[in-house]
Amino acid sequence: MERIVILTGAGISAESGLGTFRDKGGLWTRYDLGDVATPEGFARDPTLVHDFYNARRANALDATPNAAHQALARLQAGWPGAVTLVTQNIDDLHERAGSRDVVHMHGEITRALCAACDHRWPAPRVMAPADPCPACGAPRARPDIVWFGEIPYHMERIANALWRADLFVSIGTSGEVYPAAGFVEEAKAAGAETLEINLEPSRVPGLFDRVIAGPASRAVPGWVADILP
Ligand code: APR
Repeated sequence: MERIVILTGAGISAESGLGTFRDKGGLWTRYDLGDVATPEGFARDPTLVHDFYNARRANALDATPNAAHQALARLQAGWPGAVTLVTQNIDDLHERAGSRDVVHMHGEITRALCAACDHRWPAPRVMAPADPCPACGAPRARPDIVWFGEIPYHMERIANALWRADLFVSIGTSGEVYPAAGFVEEAKAAGAETLEINLEPSRVPGLFDRVIAGPASRAVPGWVADILP
């Protein structure tokens, strides 16, 4: 049976009230990503960075999954073949909609990481620079999020899934940030069919065999209903 690889971006959580990055009013139009989403920014001002992610964590914890997240959970449960769900998002809305084994390539807002010993633990709702690491005690706690200049997580598993994919679906991402932006070419090179679901097509036509334009909360359930047996 067919193997499907899905990549989601901020657009799938937009209708849950979580901001995107590059749309009008997006996060990177209000913050300098160099200050809040790089290791250098964290070293320079850990309080500013924790404040930024404490606000995003509160938004994420207070948000609810929308019909697009729920449709992907239905697909994972009902699809006879393999579904690999990769997300660039750091929220846990896929999991709260019932998805399993979500591949968070940019990390998770619900997890903390010790910059001194690499220990990981569930993040408290509010984090502060002085928080001691539960394992080594160092006051070096940071959000377990992949910042610009750092290596995304699970890249080998993603590359294997793309290589074996029959269908690659990109949902709600601008295709501005690599390596995620290159997944469609990797899937095409492996012979997969490629589909983009986006509010409006994110790239020059031609990279995707098919484009479904519209808000994810409508377009994703419609697509899932069409393909589920
Ligand atoms: N339904 C579907 N798509 C939407 C919706 C919606 N309701 N609203 C916005 N979109 C689409 C936009 O058209 C755009 O293509 O979501 C995309 C948002 O793009 P970005 O803001 O660039 O978000 P994303 O692609 O996830 O960013 C990738 O950049 O800053 C880093 O690590 C961060 O994971 C993030 C990565």
